[in-house]
Amino acid sequence: MQGQTLQILLITTEERVQESINRALAGGMSRAYRLHWVAQPNLALTRAQDLLPQVILVDDELEGIDPIPLIRQLAASVSSAIILFLVDKERAGEASQAVLVGARSFITKPLQADDLVMTLHQVLAWQRVPPVEPGTVEGAGGRIVVFCAPKGGTGRTTLAVNTAISLRQVDRRPVVLVDADFAAPALDVALNLDPDRNVVDLLPKLSRLDQVLIESVLADHTSGLKVLLAPPPSDLTSPLTLPQVQHILVMLRRMFPWVIVDLGLPMDETAFAFLDGADRIVMTVLPEMVGLRNTRLMLGHFAEEGYPPEKTWLVLNRSTLQGGVSTADIESRLGVPVKFTVPDDQRLVTATVNRGVPLSLTHQRSAVGRAVRKMAQQLSDDAQHNGRGPLPPPEVSESEGSGGLFGRLFGRSNGTSEAQAETEPSSEQA
Ligand SMILES: Nc1ncnc2c1ncn2[C@@H]1O[C@H](COP(=O)(O)OP(=O)(O)O)[C@@H](O)[C@H]1O
Ligand SMILES: [Mg+2]
Repeated sequence: MQGQTLQILLITTEERVQESINRALAGGMSRAYRLHWVAQPNLALTRAQDLLPQVILVDDELEGIDPIPLIRQLAASVSSAIILFLVDKERAGEASQAVLVGARSFITKPLQADDLVMTLHQVLAWQRVPPVEPGTVEGAGGRIVVFCAPKGGTGRTTLAVNTAISLRQVDRRPVVLVDADFAAPALDVALNLDPDRNVVDLLPKLSRLDQVLIESVLADHTSGLKVLLAPPPSDLTSPLTLPQVQHILVMLRRMFPWVIVDLGLPMDETAFAFLDGADRIVMTVLPEMVGLRNTRLMLGHFAEEGYPPEKTWLVLNRSTLQGGVSTADIESRLGVPVKFTVPDDQRLVTATVNRGVPLSLTHQRSAVGRAVRKMAQQLSDDAQHNGRGPLPPPEVSESEGSGGLFGRLFGRSNGTSEAQAETEPSSEQA
């Protein structure tokens, strides 16, 4: 879907080239993008490998460095990127050379703003035809759903965990849950997991990240969820940089149909790397006047980032809280519809968090359980209908037999694991 922020890497030693590109994009791009600039050609390759941009713009003026070998290297090592060559009108002969070694196209200088934007739109439209076999996770790509809020305590963790579990039940595709609350990690406690491996273990190996390495740091939950834990909090700075987040998300999305992120504060560059990558953002809000203003500010910030309004789903948690602000009031104050409400049930939620057993495993039929399940169902339906291609087919494990598909067809879920075997059967469709 169009909510995906386009990452563009510009390689030029000339500040005025950077400025003109910046102006052209600001004036003409209809989708969200982020322009990154490398002014030192010798750093271009590593930067591109870190960032994995969709588009690389290579200027022909690189202070004496020949752009052609650089384009060849970029094309070989960041093969997913579309490379465009910016070449002086007088030297258009070099353009064909650039295309021969891997550039997709070229744009002549002095730059015409329309030219750049049109070329970008064209090459991106072509790019959308998937080059990989249909049906593979690789080709389809998983959906990233990020739970966030402008303040703590609104239920991000509670809802992220239970939505992840419910998704496994209603959608039956693998789910990975990511703890991205680096200041206050909680997934190890909420899921009763041994926090012996976490995302920081991946960082030294980032350049050769593969499925096996990632699997080796994921924790297994009995429900079948895989969990990427956060390191114990040490200070307020995030342990991950923006390109590291991008890199890890790209890998997780290749491996998992569902990537659910529990995002913490502050809303720094790292947090925005998660939000940029999200297909859906679930913003949790409580029915309290205090906090609504910050929610409004955050929604405004998302609009400035170029996120389309439908990218964010507003979820009113603890909606039945005594004396709470009404849904209609919240909608009018925020100017955004409340997509889902989750009722208040302090006793149940607290007890299940303390035991480290999510209520979506043990209390599916509770009001909170049903509300979460409805949200999971909607995410699943939504994933079938947005523009990012189909999800891989659901899993049907031996123990689940043919019930898997029938369960889905008739709106019934059967248990996903041992952890659920003793709980009530969930025949309800919320
Ligand atoms: N629907 C709910 N009903 C009652 N209590 C809830 C509900 N959702 C969350 N809580 C409680 O609110 C507190 C904060 O929830 P948590 O998920 O940790 O928020 P966050 O991750 O946003 O900081 C926890 O004590 C949790 O048990
Ligand atoms: Mg939390």
